[in-house]
Amino acid sequence: MQSMYSGFFTEFYDILHAGLTDVDAYVEFARKFGPDVLELGSGTGRILIPLARAGFRVTGIDSSDDMIARCQVRLALEDEAVRSKATIVRQDVTKFQLGKRFDLIIAPCNMLNHFLEPGLLIRALRNVKRHLKPTGVFILDNGIPDIPYMVDINRVERIAAFEHPLTGTKLIHRCTTTYDFANQLEYNTVHLEEYDEVDNLLREAAYTSTMTYYFPRELRLILEMSGFELFHEQGSLHQDCPIDAGSTEMVFFAR
Ligand SMILES: C[S@@+](CC[C@H](N)C(=O)[O-])C[C@H]1O[C@@H](n2cnc3c(N)ncnc32)[C@H](O)[C@@H]1O
Repeated sequence: MQSMYSGFFTEFYDILHAGLTDVDAYVEFARKFGPDVLELGSGTGRILIPLARAGFRVTGIDSSDDMIARCQVRLALEDEAVRSKATIVRQDVTKFQLGKRFDLIIAPCNMLNHFLEPGLLIRALRNVKRHLKPTGVFILDNGIPDIPYMVDINRVERIAAFEHPLTGTKLIHRCTTTYDFANQLEYNTVHLEEYDEVDNLLREAAYTSTMTYYFPRELRLILEMSGFELFHEQGSLHQDCPIDAGSTEMVFFAR
């Protein structure tokens, strides 16, 4: 089976994430801490393109050729003024070298959950630190693991249907997650199917991904161990509220 960030899935990625409300928050963060922004794991440009539209110089790095290709397709539809603000580079976050430093580096949408070993995450974070200006800021947002929900969905197939906004075709997304709670790992198998209006199967593909998840205390410690000073944190991307028992996300601001 293919990795999650390839083929048909890359087209589906934006449809699956259409309901997220994080883009405006990142544009606001860029207003406060920009203007020169680096996005780690910029994917299809879901956040990167609105940042460029808002006038920020934004560099995106990603390790997936197919996600980058999808981002280039989306960028090609933008005006020259927007395109000229965006740079996409194929690099791995654990060892990227851009030869420049940024005012703001962002790791949105659980990006850090791709580093399955703590050592890899620390290597990535140290590298991020080397790419920050002395006054620069690093912002990451991650979901807080919801253990009762994870226990409920463990090994249970979840099925969701979507309509393709351009072609009107029907997309069926089947996902099964298996948790290894001892090692904080989640194994996903995803099956995607696309049907026309009379239910003929047009395309199908299967993907796997392995991710990890973190708790707030753990990320605070790892940020410190990686050379960062945590100067602010909040329990929501949209509100400056504390991380507490009711929070579903953690947003860390470090320098
Ligand atoms: C969840 S997607 C997020 C994309 C985008 N930031 C967004 O919010 O829509 C994570 C992205 O990180 C990329 N990625 C995963 N591991 C990476 C690594 N080690 N180095 C660079 N990119 C990586 C994937 O290819 C994927 O495009």
